[in-house]
Amino acid sequence: MKRRVAILISGRGSNMAALIEAAAAADFPAEIVLVISNRADAGGLEKAAASGIATRVIESKPFGKDRAAFEAVLQAALDQRRIDLICLGGFMRLFTAEFVQRWYGRMLNIHPSLLPSFPGLEPQAQAVRAGVRISGATVHFVIPETDAGPILMQGAVEVYDDDTPERLAERILAIEHRIYPAALRLLAGGRIRIEGNTCKTVGGSGSDASLISPGIG
Ligand code: GAR
Repeated sequence: MKRRVAILISGRGSNMAALIEAAAAADFPAEIVLVISNRADAGGLEKAAASGIATRVIESKPFGKDRAAFEAVLQAALDQRRIDLICLGGFMRLFTAEFVQRWYGRMLNIHPSLLPSFPGLEPQAQAVRAGVRISGATVHFVIPETDAGPILMQGAVEVYDDDTPERLAERILAIEHRIYPAALRLLAGGRIRIEGNTCKTVGGSGSDASLISPGIG
C-alpha cells in the first residue's frame, strides 16, 4: 500500500512539484494526496491543482501566535485525508513541540544547505559569506529545533569564486529537486531507520563518488 503524503507549502512550491512528478511513477511507494498552504497566495497551489492534487488553504495569519489552534485545524485536515507522511516544502511557519512530536519520524523538511551548517534564513547567502567551497541541500526529519533533525539525504554542489547567493541558490534548488523525491522514496519504502540523532539506510549502497572544489583536474 502506498503511503499517503501531504505536502505543506508557503510559496512557489517547486519542491512540491518535483515530489508530485516523481510520485506519479507507478512504482513510487508514496502518493501525494493533499497540498496544504498556510498562505492563499502561494504559487504552488495552482501547480498542485493543475496536477490534479487536492489543495487546501489554512491561513496561519489569523491565528497569530496561537500555534496550537492553527495546528488543530491542520491536524484535522491531515486526519480527514488519512495522511501517513508530511513533506515540508518551503513551509514558513514554526510548529509547536507537541505537533512535531506527534509527527516525529513521519515529517520531512528540505533545507538549502549542508546542515548542520547554515540553518535559518538565507542559507545560500550564509554559505557565500562563509566562503565554503561546497554547499548543497539536506532532507531531514523534523524535530522541535529549526533546521535540525536526523539527516536522511544530502546533495552537494560546488560554490564558485564569483557566486552570488542567487546563482548558488539556483544550483542548490536543482539538487533539491533530485534528492527530495529520492529521500521520500527511501522513507516510504521502509528503508530508513532512525538511530538517535542519525539515520541509517537499510540496504543502503555506498558509492565512492567525490566532489572536490575547486576542481583539481
Ligand atoms: C527551498 O529552497 C527550500 O529548501 C527552502 O525554501 C525553498 C522553497 O522553495 N526551505 C527552507 O529554507 C527551510 N528552512 P520551493 O517553494 O520552490 O520548494
